Amino acid sequence: MGSYGMLARRVVQTETPVMVQIQELIRGSKDVMSLAQGVVHWLPPKPALEKVKEIVWEPSVSRYGADEGLPELREALVKKLREENQLCKSSVMVTAGANQAFVNIVLTLCDAGDSVVMFAPYYFNAYMSFQMTGVTNILVGPGNPETLHPDADWLKRILQETKPTPKLVTVVNPGNPSGTYIPDALLKRLSDICRDAGSWLLVDNTYEYFMFDGRKHSCVEGNHIVNIFSFSKAYGMMGWRVGYIAYPSEVEGFAAQLLKVQDNIPICASIISQRLALFSLEVGPEWVTDQVKELVKNRTIIQEALAPLGEGAVKGGEGAIYLWAKLPEKHTEDFEVVRWLARKHGVVLIPGSACGCPGHVRISFGGLLENDCLLASKRLKKGLEELVTSGMLE
Ligand SMILES: Cc1ncc(COP(=O)(O)O)c(C=O)c1O
Repeated sequence: MGSYGMLARRVVQTETPVMVQIQELIRGSKDVMSLAQGVVHWLPPKPALEKVKEIVWEPSVSRYGADEGLPELREALVKKLREENQLCKSSVMVTAGANQAFVNIVLTLCDAGDSVVMFAPYYFNAYMSFQMTGVTNILVGPGNPETLHPDADWLKRILQETKPTPKLVTVVNPGNPSGTYIPDALLKRLSDICRDAGSWLLVDNTYEYFMFDGRKHSCVEGNHIVNIFSFSKAYGMMGWRVGYIAYPSEVEGFAAQLLKVQDNIPICASIISQRLALFSLEVGPEWVTDQVKELVKNRTIIQEALAPLGEGAVKGGEGAIYLWAKLPEKHTEDFEVVRWLARKHGVVLIPGSACGCPGHVRISFGGLLENDCLLASKRLKKGLEELVTSGMLE
C-alpha cells in the first residue's frame, strides 16, 4: 500500500512482535538452535491425548460451547483454584490462552487513554496489548537492581502522584522475562497498595508450577484483583490454546462486561482443547511438577554457558523458564548481538529491548531436551566468550 494512512494508529504504533522477528531470524539462518521462544519440550499427558482421540466424532466438539467455557471444565478449575491457589471468591472464564485472557481483561477494565503500570523487564505481549487497545500511557516501573522484584515504594508513590490514578497494575509471577518470583509478602504489599489507590491488580500466573529450589508460588485475591493462568506450558499445550481468568465473583457487572469481549473474540475457546484441558487436569499437577523438576538440569547448563558475562550479570531462574542476563557495557544494541549470535554461533536469544531493557538478553531453558540444551549451551558459551574478548568481529 505504501502508506500507513489508512491503518489504525493504535496498531501501527504498537511494537512489532519480537517473536515474529525472531522466527524470521531463525528461518533466515542455517542450523540455529533456539533458546528464544518461551516453550516447553514436552507434549500433553499421554492418557489425556488418548482420550481426546476418542471424542473427535462427538457432535458437541464441532459446535459452539458456552462463552465462559465448558461447565465441567470451569467446575474443575474452581476446585483447582480453591485447593491449589487458595482463591475462594473467584469466578472462571476459559479463554484461548493467557494472552487472550490478558486482552479480555484490558478491554473489560481499561479505556483508551487510561494509564497503566508495568515493571521492567516486562512481558512484551502485555505491553503490546495495552498499546493496541489505545492504553498508550504505560508507566514502566523499576525492578530492584539485585532481585528484579517490582519496586513497591515506587508503585506507592506513582499511584499517589499520577492523576487520574492509573487504572491497572500488572505483574507476572514468576516472571517472564526475568524468571524471578514475587515473594508472598511483596505480592500482598503490591495488592494493598493497589487496593488503597483504587487500581486493579492483574497477576499473570502462567508459570505457577515452574518454581525451583523449594520455592512456593502463591496468589492474592480481592475485589480489585484478577488472576490469569495458562495450560500452555504446564501441560505442554501451547498449540491447543487454553488459558483462564479468575476474576472476583463479588464485583457487580464484571461477568456481564467480560462476556461481551469474549463473545466477540473467540466466542468460546476451542471445545476439543477444553476437553484436553479437563483430561489433563484429571492427570493432575504432580505430572506437571515432575516435568518441571527436570528443567533444573537445563538451567544449570545455561547458567554455566552464561559465565563469560561475569559475576552479577545473570539473574532470574528462580521460577518460570528464563534466565536474564546483562550484556557487556558496550553492547547496548542487544538486537545486533542476537543477530550476530544467530549468524556466527547458531544460537538464538530474545533481545532485552523487547522487554524495555536494552543491553540485556532473555534465555529460555524450557524448549530443549537435555542433550540439545547442552549443544546450544556450547554454542552460546563460545559466542559470549568471543563477544567479551573481541566483540562482534564478523
Ligand atoms: C507471562 C506469559 N503470559 C502469557 C503467555 C501466553 O500464554 P498462552 O499460550 O496461554 O497464551 C506467555 C507465553 O509465553 C507468558 O510467558
